[in-house]
Amino acid sequence: MKIIEAKDYNDMSRKAANILSAQVIMKPDCVLGLATGSTPVGAYRQLVERFEKGDLDFSQVKSVNLDEYKGLERTNDQSYYYFMHENLFNHVNIKEENTNVPNGMEPDAEKECARYEALIDSLGGVDLQLLGLGHNGHIGFNEPAEAFDKATHCVNLTERTIEANKRFFASADDVPRQAYTMGIGTIMRAKKILIIVSGEDKAEIVRDAFFGPVTPKVPASILQMHPDVTLVADAAALSKIPR
Ligand code: F6R
Repeated sequence: MKIIEAKDYNDMSRKAANILSAQVIMKPDCVLGLATGSTPVGAYRQLVERFEKGDLDFSQVKSVNLDEYKGLERTNDQSYYYFMHENLFNHVNIKEENTNVPNGMEPDAEKECARYEALIDSLGGVDLQLLGLGHNGHIGFNEPAEAFDKATHCVNLTERTIEANKRFFASADDVPRQAYTMGIGTIMRAKKILIIVSGEDKAEIVRDAFFGPVTPKVPASILQMHPDVTLVADAAALSKIPR
């Protein structure tokens, strides 16, 4: 694993955008695996700026997102579909038909998960997968478990996640109970992985995930087994790694 240390969140975002930009420049019709959450917002902003300057062209890029809430309309401002359009897709020249997010409104989980896996295969796999890191080591919605979930699947959100998310919804009853997510196997099949982490609150999990044992109890630890992973993290997030 390659570790790139950034000064702070902005520097992490610039460095992550450099890697994403290089991918798009070197392979204009690449498949980008994308993530939501607060960590990638700055990198997406950087990509938009570079597009506006004329330095990046997304006209042939295809994207597949990691995950989506089950049962949320795309128009819901908490959906990951909405997030991606707000933060990136609406501001660059990526074609709508080339963007892919799991369809949260498909009630048949088996059908949607099989469709999403087949879709990724039909695109020739992911060239560069961007990931954030959860405080408990989750990647996508792959939470700590007894075994690694391989393929795209439907997860039941934990009470803790529902509780944490309820502030974004009118009431706790409106918080989705399930989500679709790429599996660990899906993520591991990406040719390259870029994981970005910021903040002292993630320092312990960075240490455990990348310097501790590989275990499904820390899902991101599996990335130690991937041949091409780059971790871009700020100094605060790297403050507890062994030097
Ligand atoms: C988002 C995702 C999640 C986040 C993780 C970190 O698509 O799959 O695994 O990457 O929860 O979230 P932030 O960046 O908000 O700390």
